[in-house]
Amino acid sequence: MHVQTLILGAGAAGLLCAGQAGPGALIVDHAAAPGEKIRISGGGRCNFTNLHTGPANFISQNPHFAKSALSRFSPQDFLALVDRHGIGWHEKTLGQLFCDRSARDIIAMLLAEMADVPLWLNTVIEEIGHDGAAFQVRLTRDGAAQTVSARNLVVATGGKSIPKMGATGLAYKIAEQFGHQLIEPRPALVPLTFDAGQFAPLAGVTQRVRAGCGSVSFDEAMLFTHRGLSGPAILQISSYWADGQTVRINLVPQTDLLGALKDLRRTAGKKQVSTVLTQFMPTRLVDHLLPALPAMGLLADQSDPALTALAKALQNWDLRPGGSEGYRTAEVTLGGVDTGGLSSRTMMSKTVPGLYFIGECVDVTGWLGGYNFQWAWASGYVAGQAIRDMG
Ligand code: FDA
Repeated sequence: MHVQTLILGAGAAGLLCAGQAGPGALIVDHAAAPGEKIRISGGGRCNFTNLHTGPANFISQNPHFAKSALSRFSPQDFLALVDRHGIGWHEKTLGQLFCDRSARDIIAMLLAEMADVPLWLNTVIEEIGHDGAAFQVRLTRDGAAQTVSARNLVVATGGKSIPKMGATGLAYKIAEQFGHQLIEPRPALVPLTFDAGQFAPLAGVTQRVRAGCGSVSFDEAMLFTHRGLSGPAILQISSYWADGQTVRINLVPQTDLLGALKDLRRTAGKKQVSTVLTQFMPTRLVDHLLPALPAMGLLADQSDPALTALAKALQNWDLRPGGSEGYRTAEVTLGGVDTGGLSSRTMMSKTVPGLYFIGECVDVTGWLGGYNFQWAWASGYVAGQAIRDMG
């Protein structure tokens, strides 16, 4: 069987690309259903884009690479598609757009957009080659072996995150097979773990914090878990954290804590330090931290240096994670196919004509908040357009 374009992976990037590439394309996936990550994303409502998307919201060895695709297919372009299909949506916070009803609406929309492209599910990709004229892909579909020959091969099989959902890392193997470099993949947007259940007694406690690593920080909620730390602030900073590094937590980021404590010393000096601190954070957290804090007893008895040390301890809490929850729960994979080998306009390989890499398998990783889908849509769009334009 010969097709113009074979798309590997019916996830966010592959489905959108198929709609753009149009007739002549075939999309295959080993899963039993398309867009499984879309289905479970955003708590079932899919945070499908972010209105404030810009290159600064992405991590890549080449921070300029994503600019071209993101400008040619913007959040407004995706929103126009969503509106055209009559899908209700709302902005939750920080420009994050979610479906009113269900993430399944996005999958149905993408499938409707690629109605003239056959979709083969339960299809195992056995071997990929190139005979000089076309890609030759050996597949097993419903137990039967067959070879599909294709002029263009679009690799949209995602990263390694959540193997239970079908993530395999196949894209990296294909990239290496065709001589592309990889930026070492690692789990991102992932909870951080700490030894010996350090935070187990605090499991369930949340606090709005500033989580920092190096020169980057995020002001969002943090959640204590049985195994460590999670919540948006930690997921965000995990993408910038590497083994052995320290994460700095400011537990009271929105306040001049020293100034506030000095004011309270005047107006509420007869209160215990521990009682006063519960104005700034949950009691369980105060109780947990208290033994290690440099100020105890009545607030009125605290000297300026003691209050300074207290504010510093709470606003510069340095923690060294033992690790992360890994690919088992990571929302995305950092790193991937080195952008140096790809055209930023089309996502096509600079060295293997007709070979494209799109979506999460490329070394472009978004922050939490709809940016990763926007990258999947944008990279899928430019590749699909390039293929359609070539006819
Ligand atoms: P994606 O993973 O979507 O698709 C890859 C496809 O390839 C899958 O269908 C898979 O079955 C198939 N495949 C893999 N290996 C194969 C093989 N060997 N043979 C055949 N097929 C193979 N992002 C965001 O912007 N907003 C959000 O709300 C969320 N929420 C979210 C929640 C959770 C729990 C996760 C895990 C992730 C998110 N994300 C997110 C991230 C987002 O889901 C992710 O960035 C995109 O799905 C990436 O799209 P791709 O198409 O590149 O890969």
